[in-house]
Amino acid sequence: MVQEGLQRALSQSFMAQTSGQAGGTTDDLPRGPVAETRDLNVWYDDFQALRDISLQVPGHRITAIIGPSGCGKSTLIRCFNRMNDLIAGFRSTGDVIFQGQDIYGKGIDPVEVRRRIGMVFQKPNPFPKSIYENVAFGPRINGYVGHLHEIVERALRQAALWDEVKDNLRKSALTLSGGQQQRLCIARALAIEPEVILMDEPCSALDPAATLKIEDLMRELAREYAIVIVTHNMQQAARVADSTAVMMMAEDRAGELIEYGPTKEVFTNPKEQRTEDYITGRFG
Ligand SMILES: Nc1ncnc2c1ncn2[C@@H]1O[C@H](COP(=O)(O)OP(=O)(O)OP(=O)(O)O)[C@@H](O)[C@H]1O
Ligand SMILES: [Mg+2]
Repeated sequence: MVQEGLQRALSQSFMAQTSGQAGGTTDDLPRGPVAETRDLNVWYDDFQALRDISLQVPGHRITAIIGPSGCGKSTLIRCFNRMNDLIAGFRSTGDVIFQGQDIYGKGIDPVEVRRRIGMVFQKPNPFPKSIYENVAFGPRINGYVGHLHEIVERALRQAALWDEVKDNLRKSALTLSGGQQQRLCIARALAIEPEVILMDEPCSALDPAATLKIEDLMRELAREYAIVIVTHNMQQAARVADSTAVMMMAEDRAGELIEYGPTKEVFTNPKEQRTEDYITGRFG
């Protein structure tokens, strides 16, 4: 059966990983939560999109959020850097804590929040500027006065793009391939030295080779950053994430967190029948 096939593929993917470097990150790094939501509820006008979500994002780890379309994954990930502020009708209750502070609290500057918690989107969205200017943009508007070139080079190296673009930094970013553009967007996010990187389906517009490159990159970046990734690709969650959060829609369509734990457990021994149904393709 197809489902059994997928289940087997996932288990094998785990075997391969856990025998080496599960989730790809090392175990000697601190694990405390860098960011978390507490009883987070979100509405768009009258429609409740999230209900009572409490989720902890550990440092130096990759956390995946999975679940069927419309269950609120993007809504949740956007709460972590106040990206939803820009949406008309958005309202929330509960807390989103970053480094011990409620980022929706009084006196918190959302621009500063977004500087410390960067974001990479589903579709690569480079500015219609040169490769160099894309990466230099963030530090520049943040008033950085040091050697911009060093920041640009470091970010491009971190994003595993430097070797491919170092001789063409003045070329338009729009001449790059989709996979290169996505790595450029990751470099752009890294250039402002965030502490958390949010990625909403960062590979959905990429081919398998470019996808694997981004996944390798995520594992590399998790040595320094906390990463939260939304993905529809079960194998991707299995391959890269240390922990996985499973969301589902309740009867009134509000998104709920139904299971959260180490990725291996969620995929091979889920606590919830609905998780098993979802990851084996019987639901959603
Ligand atoms: N700007 C908005 N205004 C009103 N409703 C919205 C808005 N954005 C999302 N929603 C609603 O909130 C719910 C959750 O949407 P969200 O985009 O977070 O889901 P998702 O899990 O990311 O879905 P997908 O997997 O398709 O990307 C959906 O019912 C959606 O219609
Ligand atoms: Mg989404």
